[in-house]
Amino acid sequence: MVDIKVRKLINEAKSAREKAYAPYSKFKVGAALLAKSGKIYAGCNVENAIYNGTHAERFALDNAVIRGEREFLAIAIVLDDKSFPCAQCLQNLTEFDSDGKGNLKIITVNLQGNVRESTLAKLLPERFGPKSLGIDVRKF
Ligand code: THU
Ligand code: ZN
Repeated sequence: MVDIKVRKLINEAKSAREKAYAPYSKFKVGAALLAKSGKIYAGCNVENAIYNGTHAERFALDNAVIRGEREFLAIAIVLDDKSFPCAQCLQNLTEFDSDGKGNLKIITVNLQGNVRESTLAKLLPERFGPKSLGIDVRKF
């Protein structure tokens, strides 16, 4: 992927993190998802008093889906850690991994600006997905 696009993705995730609403955990996360169309969709974590808030990655994904996107090339997340998205968010991303090969790039950036890159296939190698249920997502 072109470096300039990755830079942009990271910057969008950084801005999204500034909007995070995390009064309970105090742990802010920002995400930016790059669709095949070239457009970028952002998300942040939004917590609530019953502790069932939205994760940044899920927010970005839903934000893209409501605009008609179904295929994604990469997601960048910015957080105060070097970890990759949680398993639930990886599962949500699996839904839109249309070729089933897990090539979706997952880029994590901590507050010091250290960047780590992986893929859906590497982080969730034996993943359960639409194919496990015999579903061809392109038909829906
Ligand atoms: N969080 C995310 O937004 N994404 C993840 O993948 C991991 C955790 C959020 C949820 C909660 O608001 C806070 O970070 C601490 O868990
Ligand atoms: Zn998550």
